[in-house]
Amino acid sequence: MSAVRTRTLEEYHADYQQSVEDPDAFWAAAAEPFTWYKKWDTVRGGDFSPGGTSTWYAGAQLNLTENCLDRHLEQRANKLAIIYEPNDPKTRHSRLTYRELHEQVCQFANVLKKNGVRKGDRVALYVPMVPLLAVAVLACARMGAVHSVVFAGFSASAIADRINDAEATCVITADGLNRGAKQIPVKSVVDEALASCPSVQRVIVIEHTGWPVDMQPGRDVWYHEEVQDVEKTCAPEPMAAEDPLFILYTSGSTGKPKGVVHTQAGYMVWADYTFRNVFQVEENDVHWCTADIGWVTGHTYGVYGPLLAGATTLLFEGVPTYPSPGRFWEVIDKHHVTIFYTAPTAIRSLMAHSVDHVLAYSLSSLRVLGSVGEPINEEAWHWYDQHVGKGRCPIVDTWWQTETGGIMISALAGITPSVPARAGLPLPGVQPVLLNQDGSEIEGNDQEGYLAIKASWPGVIRTTWGDHERARQTYFTPYPGYYFTGDGARRDENGLYRIIGRVDDVINVSGHRFGTAEIENAINQSDYVVESAVVGYPHDVKGQGIYAYVICHNGVPTTDLDNQRTEASIVEAVVAAIGRIAKPDKIQLVSGLPKTRSGKIMRRILRKVAEGETQALGDTTTLLDPAVVDEIVAGRK
Ligand code: WTA
Repeated sequence: MSAVRTRTLEEYHADYQQSVEDPDAFWAAAAEPFTWYKKWDTVRGGDFSPGGTSTWYAGAQLNLTENCLDRHLEQRANKLAIIYEPNDPKTRHSRLTYRELHEQVCQFANVLKKNGVRKGDRVALYVPMVPLLAVAVLACARMGAVHSVVFAGFSASAIADRINDAEATCVITADGLNRGAKQIPVKSVVDEALASCPSVQRVIVIEHTGWPVDMQPGRDVWYHEEVQDVEKTCAPEPMAAEDPLFILYTSGSTGKPKGVVHTQAGYMVWADYTFRNVFQVEENDVHWCTADIGWVTGHTYGVYGPLLAGATTLLFEGVPTYPSPGRFWEVIDKHHVTIFYTAPTAIRSLMAHSVDHVLAYSLSSLRVLGSVGEPINEEAWHWYDQHVGKGRCPIVDTWWQTETGGIMISALAGITPSVPARAGLPLPGVQPVLLNQDGSEIEGNDQEGYLAIKASWPGVIRTTWGDHERARQTYFTPYPGYYFTGDGARRDENGLYRIIGRVDDVINVSGHRFGTAEIENAINQSDYVVESAVVGYPHDVKGQGIYAYVICHNGVPTTDLDNQRTEASIVEAVVAAIGRIAKPDKIQLVSGLPKTRSGKIMRRILRKVAEGETQALGDTTTLLDPAVVDEIVAGRK
């Protein structure tokens, strides 16, 4: 495997220093091992003020899949690229070597071309976790289309919003999906979405569950039929370094999810660099990132990072608890997984079951454990360390975001300190700072503030699709000259970072981001509802749960039946607008919300009530109607 690899603590400090003092030299060296059709004119360009646009490797030409696939064919043609473990353990698993994956990606790219997709077109994917999802993503990158993967759990309406925002011309989907005991007829969800998506001309359907689907003539085609007569090779399309690679929608503090855009060269170098260094990847590693490809973690550490490094990646269709809470551990033993990367919510959900489910497996292949998506609490960290890692596997608690493209703050496995509830030190190239509310930097250790990043790094978000101003306002305007993360953090006495959580109106539920405004908009779609306010509260398994305060037309229902009917309508509205994943955990029907005289909802009070801290509500005298607080406290769920 290629250069720029930090192997000792001394090297970390030296690399970090070089990355700050001479970033051009550092990132030129990191980019060197790749195949470039044309080398860059400048390594870094632009900065965070005032436009919020950086460029990396501008002037270069490349193709990401050439680097993920073709580059490995000489030495790794027969090495496994993908191991696929299906939802049902009784269904046979499958494997693809680098040579086979290369061929499949070429074929899929040819199918896209045959169906009218051209370079620069947007392709939306709503596909279960099957190998063809990874193949389809790579096929887009091969022929220059921009992929926009939508997690196959979002509702028809959420898909339609994303397709329309990106003006996607092609959608890739499947007949159906199994996730644990759940079955989702994904094609019919897409059909419903497409009723309001005029840009879509073609739907390519992957056969997976064998369930019957409606095929619309002239629009819908079966992948397995289309692939029959295409070539098995497809020349990689030369892409400019800053051509868009993908759009991934994520929630912010305003109502509408935004399309985070990543580009070709910087994302490639960042995915590769962070993957190899954080996990200290070796040639024979089998890497299992449990995140669905519908989320950024699945993009960077399920597909691109491992393939760029020539490693073996495991894709899993199922869930941690199906058919039993031992499933993760069974899969690790079965496929000799060496690096396991999952979310704290999954660990906590498994901790709730008997530890015998873990102890039944040897887990002796494991070498490195990772955590991502939300803060990992100490109890979960120790359980993971003791029962899964058997006290011998370093844990990397990796902090990053959809917008950062890859890991920013984390231990490098076995090299830099790994301390419970600390993400740790920044990766080389990352300059985190803590800011005061006024934007001044907080110096020294043992300090807390808003987490921002001082200088550009190769994986930084380039824009929000179709609306650059939004990216500028969200990330680069709050504190000019910095990228603003939206997280609060603490730098401990040793300089290690601990991420505290979001400081904006974003809730992190099981590692998935939702804007409170987005959920409120959904709730307000219910015919019963006048107004709502949503806050997060601590949840034992999900990290944060969704607590909704809702005012209804007919006041607070007086009968159980009325209550149930109203709540069901609210849940239904959220499921329809966003999907099951954003269902409120608690709904409290109220007659009013605590508002200031100027009409602003005092969320601070609602958060305190949801957290159960009803003794510490602070000053409520400035409220328009202080009596509503008593009612809310009394009716707390
Ligand atoms: C949170 C997921 C604490 C954080 C990669 C961030 C974390 C948001 C961690 C991004 C971590 C992610 N410790 N918090 N190790 N990792 N977060 O865009 O609040 O889905 O801003 O990216 O998750 O979520 P996103």
